[in-house]
Amino acid sequence: MKSRMCDMFGIELPIFAFSHCRDVVVEVSKAGGMGVLGMARMDPERVEEDLNWIDDHIDGKPYGIDVLMPSRFDDSSDMKFDPEQLLPKEHVEFVRKMLDDASIPPLPEADAAELKREIVKSINFTPQESLAMVETAMKHPIKVIVNALGTPPAELVERAHARDIKVGALAGKPRHALRHKEAGCDFVVAVGTEAGGHTGEISSLVLWPSIVDAVDPLPVLGAGGVGRGRQLAAALVLGCDGVWTGSLWLKTAQSEVTPEIKEKMFEAEASDAILTTSVTGKPCRTLNNKFSAAWEQPGAPATLPAPTQNYLWWQEGRTRVERVRAKDFLTYPVGQIVGDMHDEISVKEVVYELLNEMLDARERLDDMLA
Ligand SMILES: Cc1cc2nc3c(=O)[nH]c(=O)nc-3n(C[C@H](O)[C@H](O)[C@H](O)COP(=O)(O)O)c2cc1C
Repeated sequence: MKSRMCDMFGIELPIFAFSHCRDVVVEVSKAGGMGVLGMARMDPERVEEDLNWIDDHIDGKPYGIDVLMPSRFDDSSDMKFDPEQLLPKEHVEFVRKMLDDASIPPLPEADAAELKREIVKSINFTPQESLAMVETAMKHPIKVIVNALGTPPAELVERAHARDIKVGALAGKPRHALRHKEAGCDFVVAVGTEAGGHTGEISSLVLWPSIVDAVDPLPVLGAGGVGRGRQLAAALVLGCDGVWTGSLWLKTAQSEVTPEIKEKMFEAEASDAILTTSVTGKPCRTLNNKFSAAWEQPGAPATLPAPTQNYLWWQEGRTRVERVRAKDFLTYPVGQIVGDMHDEISVKEVVYELLNEMLDARERLDDMLA
């Protein structure tokens, strides 16, 4: 395919795949697209390990990383938190009672202490922590860095460009996209509300062309709701130079999700991908579950700000729920395309299906215009 994003990276297909799973990253890049590894909850050692593995398996194809980095390095002071002090008793009790009432056993005390240590270690939201991971990643042949938490800091853009690494950032509104452009980003990812994970309120159909116009001539990737070839075709028709996808890869044989969550996804409808603050503290589209529903009930406490609510979910909820695989409470970020996911297939097959359906859509359009 011809697209400015293909030219920018020397790739065959302007299909970008966000994934926390290194296998998906490798397979997408080998299929002609661009795999981008999400580094949330990693530390520099894990980054080094995963990128070494990718380098060994990707046959020299390009790939990138996605980081959670606040806009300014001096934003850091209030982001390092002591979870023990920040978790209000009322919230901890609320979650404990919710799970006790559902007969989900508490963690054995020894396991709980160890798990808590691991969870605290994995919450790396400060710019210094993100930067340490980026520094590690920059020693590998990464071609792109994408920032999820707003406009990337100037220092990050400079360091990346000095190494010929392109920089992109996610935007849910045209004015956010303009800020990314002013900060020197090489492209913008326009994320419609349909998307899995943190997302805004504007639908892709409305958002994509408005961001394309706002940042012109900067190329834009359409994200949120791309699960099939007709949606890929729609993004291109609306002016995007490619797509940025996340949920689509969760159904693949290579993905990181457990069989229980996959099964839940295959049973879900689009409306089961709910927008909730109960998991991270920010609006996050995730698979419907009893933990999230409980926060909507009358008398429930208000959810906590990020990242404290995220810590609460991991420490008090997720670890207990996953230990006994309590299906009603299990969840994972996923977008509205979950309603279209029915079977496990390989990454290669996903790419093949996307392209075939896109070509059919083009023929249909050609026939209508003839
Ligand atoms: C399981 C999952 C985890 C995600 N985590 C992140 C993240 O850490 N950083 C980020 O920039 N985006 C994250 N996202 C959002 C994706 O980057 C992307 O915007 C979104 O998946 C696109 O919409 P789609 O899910 O409809 O394909 C995540 C999405 C999913 C499904």
